[in-house]
Amino acid sequence: MMDHMNDDRTRVQEFFAVRAADWDARFPDDGPAYAEAVAALGLRPGSRVLDAGCGTGRALPALRTAVGRSGVVLGADLTPEMIDAAVRAGRDRDGSLLRADVSSLPVRSGSLDAVFGAGLISHLAVPQRDLGELARVVRPGGLLALFHPVGRAALAARHGRELTPDDLRAEPQLRPLLAAAGWRLTSYVDEDARFLALAVREG
Ligand SMILES: C[S@@+](CC[C@H](N)C(=O)[O-])C[C@H]1O[C@@H](n2cnc3c(N)ncnc32)[C@H](O)[C@@H]1O
Repeated sequence: MMDHMNDDRTRVQEFFAVRAADWDARFPDDGPAYAEAVAALGLRPGSRVLDAGCGTGRALPALRTAVGRSGVVLGADLTPEMIDAAVRAGRDRDGSLLRADVSSLPVRSGSLDAVFGAGLISHLAVPQRDLGELARVVRPGGLLALFHPVGRAALAARHGRELTPDDLRAEPQLRPLLAAAGWRLTSYVDEDARFLALAVREG
């Protein structure tokens, strides 16, 4: 079991390591979509938020704007090359960057108001466990946003594959998965230009 998990982690790191350097250049127009998704979290000045699987930190400027200087913004990613690219892009000015696996975060239980995760969920080795770890670090009533700037059908078409009902992000899969991990799905949008699922941390 442990070996499988290490294999999964290595696979993710290898996949993203070679994509890190030109990640932002490949998706130059996504900024407004990220800002809109961050706005859905309803953060306030002073809020504490984690960008889980932050990659090059594309969401960090919008998260910092939302929480202000008195707030806390953390960005955690497994792939060192992604963190390096985030630093090169100056994203460490907007948040503290951690090289960490979301399955085991160096963050106190209940210490955050929200988690933002863009393009993350389909890469998680053990989704229920990892979403449970995200629930651990968020206070009851806090929020989770699972976002992608492309909807499921458009993404499947881009990759030349069929959309299957067992896709983790399909609502009938996602709702019970989140519930088992301590989250209640409150809103679900899956359209061509946006996938956004919002969930609240159960008490
Ligand atoms: C599709 S990229 C998205 C990056 C960024 N959120 C964005 O929207 O540009 C997925 C990111 O999740 C990270 N990742 C995948 N599994 C992870 C895990 N278990 N813990 C931390 N980061 C992870 C990868 O290293 C990669 O940077």
